[in-house]
Amino acid sequence: MVKKIFSGVQPTGNLHLGNYLGAIKNFVELNNDKKNECIFCVVDLHAITVKQDPKQLRNNIRETVATFIACGIDPQKSIIFNQSKVSAHSEAAWILSCVARMGWLNRMTQFKEKVGKDKEKASIGLYSYPILMAADILLYDASHVPVGEDQKQHLEICRDIAQRFNNDFNVDDFFKVPEPLIQNEFARIMSLKDGTKKMSKSELSDLSRINLTDSKDIIINKIKKAKTDPLPLPSVITELEKRPEAKNLLGIYSSLTNSTLEKTVEIFGGKNFSEFKEKLSQVLIEKIDPISMEIKKLVNEKEFLDKILLEGYNKAENIASNKIKKMHEIVGF
Ligand code: TYM
Repeated sequence: MVKKIFSGVQPTGNLHLGNYLGAIKNFVELNNDKKNECIFCVVDLHAITVKQDPKQLRNNIRETVATFIACGIDPQKSIIFNQSKVSAHSEAAWILSCVARMGWLNRMTQFKEKVGKDKEKASIGLYSYPILMAADILLYDASHVPVGEDQKQHLEICRDIAQRFNNDFNVDDFFKVPEPLIQNEFARIMSLKDGTKKMSKSELSDLSRINLTDSKDIIINKIKKAKTDPLPLPSVITELEKRPEAKNLLGIYSSLTNSTLEKTVEIFGGKNFSEFKEKLSQVLIEKIDPISMEIKKLVNEKEFLDKILLEGYNKAENIASNKIKKMHEIVGF
């Protein structure tokens, strides 16, 4: 079966190991399967839901493209473009915001977590963000959407919006209802400083994450400083439930070595953290250092990156403008 893949990444800088293991690694595998049609979007409209410095944003858009390529996405096989260039995204988001219900958005845990007690000061864009995400996906008739676990609820609302539009306008199957592609294991990489919190670009301490641009020395230092507990590593998986930091680090190791948590626990059970951390640093460096070096090289090749975005734009625009035209007809414009 041909899978139509769509996914997006915000160009907010500091792309990290969570983005890689939760999403981009999966993009690369999907891109490598000839049967799939893949679209990877740099979601700059989503990025401005929180304040951005324009100059920095421009650089971050290119750096995100560089990261995709450095991780192994082939722009010959996949469409890579930035969201703001294809105006159908903003337009479809408006139409869909008239279909989505306030109650659905009010349930979004990511919004609640992001704004905390400062809800009144949050931008409207941050609140309606999942509707723009639904527009992204539905414009391309995506069948599958690879994301990390934190995006699960946003995909559920996307499915609800698609079904509601199809029902309200009596257009069965106009919008394809997409399936989330979330890995069973390691779809939520946690902070190196707190195993109960998601690894995130917005976390103040840089020590909480491995950035995809980190050098060998930085990786070694961050893993050395990563939070642990005083016990040796457990020999059975069930013991990990009460030990979030150990679980996260063993999970990172397993994901990087394409292994299972069970096998990793078999190898390191009973050993102390310092020995395990050395091995973890090694596998991290093996994987991340070549990516980091490639990103640093590619970000200087602005013309090359802009060309990829332009070629991607031409293809994406073609698909999205057709779909939005049909939306106009259906709605009655
Ligand atoms: P963003 O930019 O926050 O993250 C990009 C991808 O990385 C995943 N991710 C993680 N996975 C595991 N552990 C973590 N700690 C971790 N942190 C981030 C995210 O799940 C995501 O897959 N709303 C989206 C972008 C978006 C999108 C879309 C995605 C916009 N439109 C359409 C899919 C389809 C976001 O903010 O991702």
